Amino acid sequence: MATSSSAIDSILVENRVFPPSEEMVKNANISGMDAYKAMCAEADKDFEGFWGNLARKHVVWTKPFTRVLDGSNAPFYKWFDDGELNVSANCLDKHMGTPVENKTAIIFEADDGAVTKVTYKELLARVGQFANALKSRGIQKGDRVILYMPMTIEGVVAMQACARLGVIHSVVFGGFSAKALQDRIVDVGAVAVITANYQMRGGKEMPLKAIVDDAIALGGCESVKNVFVYERTKTACAMTAGRDHTFSEVLEGQSTECAPVPVNAEHPLYILYTSGSTGKPKGVQHSSGGYLLQAKLTMDWTFDLKPEDVFWCTADIGWVTGHSYVVYGPLAAGATEIVFEGIPTYPNAGRFWDMVQRHKCTVFYTAPTAIRSLIKASEADDKVHPKSYDLKSLRIIGSVGEPINPEAWVWYYNHVGGGRCPIVDTYWQTETGTHMINPLPGATPLVPGSCTLPLPGIYPAIVDETGEEMPNGKGGMLAYKKPWPSMIRTIWGDPERFKKTYFPPEMKGYYFAGDGAVRSEDRGYFRVTGRIDDVLNVSGHRLGTMEVESALVAKTDLVAEAAVVARPDDLTGEAICAFVVLKRPLPSDEEAKAIAKELRDWVAKEIGPIAKPKDIRFGENLPKTRSGKIMRRLLRSLAKGEAITQDTSTLENPQILEQLAHNN
Ligand code: WT7
Repeated sequence: MATSSSAIDSILVENRVFPPSEEMVKNANISGMDAYKAMCAEADKDFEGFWGNLARKHVVWTKPFTRVLDGSNAPFYKWFDDGELNVSANCLDKHMGTPVENKTAIIFEADDGAVTKVTYKELLARVGQFANALKSRGIQKGDRVILYMPMTIEGVVAMQACARLGVIHSVVFGGFSAKALQDRIVDVGAVAVITANYQMRGGKEMPLKAIVDDAIALGGCESVKNVFVYERTKTACAMTAGRDHTFSEVLEGQSTECAPVPVNAEHPLYILYTSGSTGKPKGVQHSSGGYLLQAKLTMDWTFDLKPEDVFWCTADIGWVTGHSYVVYGPLAAGATEIVFEGIPTYPNAGRFWDMVQRHKCTVFYTAPTAIRSLIKASEADDKVHPKSYDLKSLRIIGSVGEPINPEAWVWYYNHVGGGRCPIVDTYWQTETGTHMINPLPGATPLVPGSCTLPLPGIYPAIVDETGEEMPNGKGGMLAYKKPWPSMIRTIWGDPERFKKTYFPPEMKGYYFAGDGAVRSEDRGYFRVTGRIDDVLNVSGHRLGTMEVESALVAKTDLVAEAAVVARPDDLTGEAICAFVVLKRPLPSDEEAKAIAKELRDWVAKEIGPIAKPKDIRFGENLPKTRSGKIMRRLLRSLAKGEAITQDTSTLENPQILEQLAHNN
């Protein structure tokens, strides 16, 4: 990419330390490093007492728990497991009769800029009404329901309505394909799908319901008895009589009052699929009690939430960030939050800054990939540069999804945060449920590119392959020595895979995160360097190399063999590079380009557009060792365009390196 003078291009080493301002420290929920250390010490001294006290204080229980942690069947940990609660009641009913009741819960901004606001009281009524609609179709506690929804108030309402009934939701991101959707419908055995006729993104109307129809038509979805369709736009879509119902149909005549169903603390709140190192995505199962506790707590700790804040997490509800920091955390904390339907570059790349200004957003949380693309856009056009907007309302800004490079960090700090707002670089995962390692805005001195220190009660370590801890300054694998309340409970339908993936026998019972990391010698700060398994991170989205490889070889008329690796990319963090052996002679230039396009479209259809390989290289073979193993390290060098330093003497046909260097 030709951006030599660009702020995002160089590998700047940033050693400056940015302590919080005195004012920030003074007003913070966790005020100063001593307060942070005191909380950590409390957890050290009495781990269960620490979490038990917090759970009593921050969660409303319909039946109090008497036991905090049950590790008798580790690693299948249970938290607060003789307690009962309802998550939706903790997000909505809890606020009734308090000043929060008439406070704005959601400021919804549609793709076209139309703004709708709902108060907590109104939101409760809408959730109750939708829950009654689900109930009237026989949907009940323990059933699984798939959501395939745009970013809308209705999406939040549908998730909360499920939680209200103890129905387990599984949200599938609206960018995933019919095939990906079908896989998930089958894996959870969904009784219903909640969707919309269309979604609006960047001024374009894109089908959702039609993809649900395609998914069901792929087969194996007999469990689906009902499809609920939110009429997001006026355009009609095909409806199957008896099975499909519009929202207006099912909501008509339903009461807005629906008693929340108490569930056990360990009752699954949701299942969310994420990519692993094998072809099949994993259904990460989260609990009700422990999950809600940490979703609420991290709003207070990481975002230092105050009653007057206007919180905005830009993530889609299809990802864990949207679950914890759009649907559950902010509402449990009684925040006013912005929910945004559109994309950061429509109508122009100043959209985020324009919205911060108009809604007087105070806490803003987004992904490095978005920041990097907006840096680029604002370098080309002053009008969309943050300096052209009034961003003085901001007091805390956050980052999530991938390591933030120091260049992007410094730009975000100076131009968005005005040199005044701490950046909370939050390191966590779908599996951890909520934040694990990140600075506290009123305590932790910041170091660009470092997620700094664990939250109180969280015990990360850097270990080698035997679980032995590494000294500061030495890189290793990130692991957690103790369980935590919002952790993954199991992989839906595959407890063995859960054990094998996260608690491998050599790791001493530690939770294995799959990331490489190092602690700094001076401060012991964590820096996460990226995945050490076969998982890619493209624009903060997780994809398995095997998943993309399986999609490619499923194109059986064309592809004989495929290998996928990641290479660094300026904008998306990592980009997918696919090496493909075709079932036909090596194509010429023009032909190769046409086949590459066909393969990209194919992968988009199999998984979703986010999985499209950026680079596609063709060769008559892949580089292999004598025993026939693909030399992935060599492929990674080829992908980066590096000189080959590995031993290639075992290659049968060294010419293929030349072939595979050529991108199409
Ligand atoms: C993987 C988890 C975190 C919720 C959204 C993504 C990477 C995430 C950071 C960060 C460095 C990060 C890790 C992690 N990651 N946040 N602040 N610094 N790396 O959830 O899809 O489950 O992905 O994203 O590699 O394992 P996810």
